[in-house]
Amino acid sequence: SFDKETIIVVLGASGDLAKKKTYPALFNLYRLNLLPKALAIIGYARTKMDKDTFHGKIGEFLKGVDSDEDKKKKGDFLNICTYTAGAYDKDEAFQQLNKDMEERESKFENGASRLFYMALPPNVFTVVAEGLKKNCYSKNGHNRIIIEKPFGKDLESSREMMGKLKELWKEEETFRIDHYLGKEMVKNLLVTRFANPIIDAVLNKDLVSNVQITFKEPFGTEGRGGYFDEFGIVRDIQQNHLSQVLSLVAMEKPKSFSAEHIRDAKVEVLKSVPPIKDADVLLGQYTAAKGKPGYKDDDTVPKDSNCPTFAALTLWVNNKRWEGVPFIMKAGKALNEGKVEIRVQFKDEKNKLFENAQRNELVWRVQPQEAIYEKICTKVPGLQMGTIPTDLDLTYKDRFSDFRLPEAYEALILDALNGDHSNFVRDDELDVSWKIFTPILHAIDEGKLKPESYEYGSRGPSGLDAFIEKYGFKRADDG
Ligand code: BG6
Repeated sequence: SFDKETIIVVLGASGDLAKKKTYPALFNLYRLNLLPKALAIIGYARTKMDKDTFHGKIGEFLKGVDSDEDKKKKGDFLNICTYTAGAYDKDEAFQQLNKDMEERESKFENGASRLFYMALPPNVFTVVAEGLKKNCYSKNGHNRIIIEKPFGKDLESSREMMGKLKELWKEEETFRIDHYLGKEMVKNLLVTRFANPIIDAVLNKDLVSNVQITFKEPFGTEGRGGYFDEFGIVRDIQQNHLSQVLSLVAMEKPKSFSAEHIRDAKVEVLKSVPPIKDADVLLGQYTAAKGKPGYKDDDTVPKDSNCPTFAALTLWVNNKRWEGVPFIMKAGKALNEGKVEIRVQFKDEKNKLFENAQRNELVWRVQPQEAIYEKICTKVPGLQMGTIPTDLDLTYKDRFSDFRLPEAYEALILDALNGDHSNFVRDDELDVSWKIFTPILHAIDEGKLKPESYEYGSRGPSGLDAFIEKYGFKRADDG
């Protein structure tokens, strides 16, 4: 499909996601010559504007354009990016878009395949998916649609939305993005686990004390509080991004490397996770500190908001491999640092020969500074006998400095163009993950679970250490 003529339509072209992620990713792929040769990119949104204004808007976010060659590439790229203004709920508008596409296609030899990237707010998802199917579906090539969360707000609304979409677009035409699946270290979980017996063989209840999957951001919801308030941190991060990570850390070896086998294995492990219990939840909401505003200082956030901006949740994987091992998912905004990692903490060695031996840990650091490292003990170098903790450290920038690590969106757009679903969320995967989170989400919405406050820039609510220690976590030097 790759060399085939392609039209990419970015719906919501003047929105944040399109400007900050979609167009920059397309540009990087373009300048690496990874996009089809015969290509047109059409931006579509409601706002009327001419081509130059549009180019100005997206051009601002195309970074790293320094050399003359880069500048030429940027000019060439913008040349293939056109803009069409139109409504999201009118057949005539989509018919006009279709005409635009046909005009571009007439310059190609064999018509073109169409990729519709919906960078849109959820309230227009379904109506746009319908308008596109009805008016813009090509008969000369394949049609694909990329959609992005929020996929509903709970199990029921997700089923309703996905059900409507399914009547229009087939599963093989639908690419549900979870951009964490495009991140290098998240993709690496499959490889490091299943290409290395010395890693995968120790990932089980006999050796592992607990697993922590952590997402920390050093900034709050500034500017998008109103949107955020409807969803909260659990829907924003845990239900999608961290569940995906958990499934890759905990799943059994897939039967093959095919998209369906990989996703079968992920669904299988998520099925063995029961809904989270209220007792396994700690919530937080940030308050003003060090000159930074509190969550509720945002005018678009209701003054009595119960919305968590931090959550620590413990999930249990009830299968032979993991029975009894807590998986703690922590996610928060306005914390002391930005970091995403998976930390497996091993049980203490049973018959301790060495008194000072510290526990082993295996860490995948997703960002910043991609790395995999293992905390181990070694003999104190020199004449004396004793142990010191140290680590086996594979930090990417030191070992692989010649490689360019792509942005998640680059990897995913390329996969969608290739028709590879491995790193996209399947319908049943979405369903099973909503089942795990829906009861606590309802409890939060109903005010039965309430957030504790924590200061902007802190490590989280004061109960956090006690919460994770309850599950066997021991804080090491850099924990
Ligand atoms: C998005 C969330 O899905 O992921 C944002 O909606 C969050 O709230 C973002 O900031 C984090 O993505 P990344 O790639 O910066 O870790």
